[in-house]
Amino acid sequence: MFDYDKEKTASEEKIAGVADEKLLEAFRIEYLGKKGLIAAMYSNLGALPGEQKPEEGKKINEFRAVIAQLIEKKKNELTAKKRQTTQKKLDVTIPGVSRQVGHAHILTQTINEICGIFERLGFGIQDGPEIETEFNNFTALNIPSDHPSRDGFDTFYLKQSDPTDKKINLLLRSHTSPTQIRIMKENKPPIAVVVPGKVYRPDAVDASHSFMFHQIEGLLVDRNVRFSDLKGLLTVFLKRLFGEEIKMRFRPHYFPFTEPSAEIDISCYICGGKGCSVCGRNGWLEIMGCGLVHPKVFSSVGYPKGKYSGLAFGLGVERMAMLRHGIGDIRIFYENDLRFLNQF
Ligand code: PHE
Repeated sequence: MFDYDKEKTASEEKIAGVADEKLLEAFRIEYLGKKGLIAAMYSNLGALPGEQKPEEGKKINEFRAVIAQLIEKKKNELTAKKRQTTQKKLDVTIPGVSRQVGHAHILTQTINEICGIFERLGFGIQDGPEIETEFNNFTALNIPSDHPSRDGFDTFYLKQSDPTDKKINLLLRSHTSPTQIRIMKENKPPIAVVVPGKVYRPDAVDASHSFMFHQIEGLLVDRNVRFSDLKGLLTVFLKRLFGEEIKMRFRPHYFPFTEPSAEIDISCYICGGKGCSVCGRNGWLEIMGCGLVHPKVFSSVGYPKGKYSGLAFGLGVERMAMLRHGIGDIRIFYENDLRFLNQF
């Protein structure tokens, strides 16, 4: 005889300890297998007196149903648990691993912004070599080697590999203007380009001087280009860069490669023109050089006399960035100090 209630409690205790599918299968075999407990119960039936058989059989059936239910319940539990653990692996709420992303240097950003303004005005962007010929850097720009104006463009000369070769003197370009010569030699007007790049001058390094800095050259050549075109173009440019309110003045100046020439001042961004230490108390900041292309420059690139006219301008990138962001020392651009660079 079996004590079904006792067996039921025992089976419930047993299945509570089943923690995986393998143990559950062992449990199933123990009860429902061919040699399992329930099979033993049924075979035991035969030995019972006839009148007890139906009632005993009913109890066995009920017990079997209880076991089947226990197994089913456990099975569901185990699948739910499994789903939970796999879900953990795909938990989209776990914070991601952030990577440090770099960004363009403030000088690169300034160059991109300035060139972008001219690009939207229809200008192309070009570059030129930092090692130049004396001819392109000076002579073709109407600056003969012995001309006093050359002093304004102090220059690093390169040692010639062949000292007897006196024909081509090489140097580190002292301004981006020699790219005017290269571009005009290679292209027929109409030409409209801006040329960003590094330039070199043997200056003693201090808060406002560096032996290397960046310039952006501008050149527009066509027929009938007038000074009013230059004024209009650079007014639009400076307003886009510094804002509509900016005041500017074109002050007569001298460059050997432009005639007439001018320097452009803008109203001081710090004091708004009232006068402060940044603008030397006069309210104006010198921002760029410009002028109409000198006829001698056209003739040195082989353009026919009187056919074309053009405008050119040049600006210092570091100076622009310093004025716009209130940076007081040029040396900080080149020190790769992340505390500085990350501010932009
Ligand atoms: N090359 C001049 C400089 O370095 C700037 C300039 C460029 C002036 C083009 C006029 C025209 O100072």
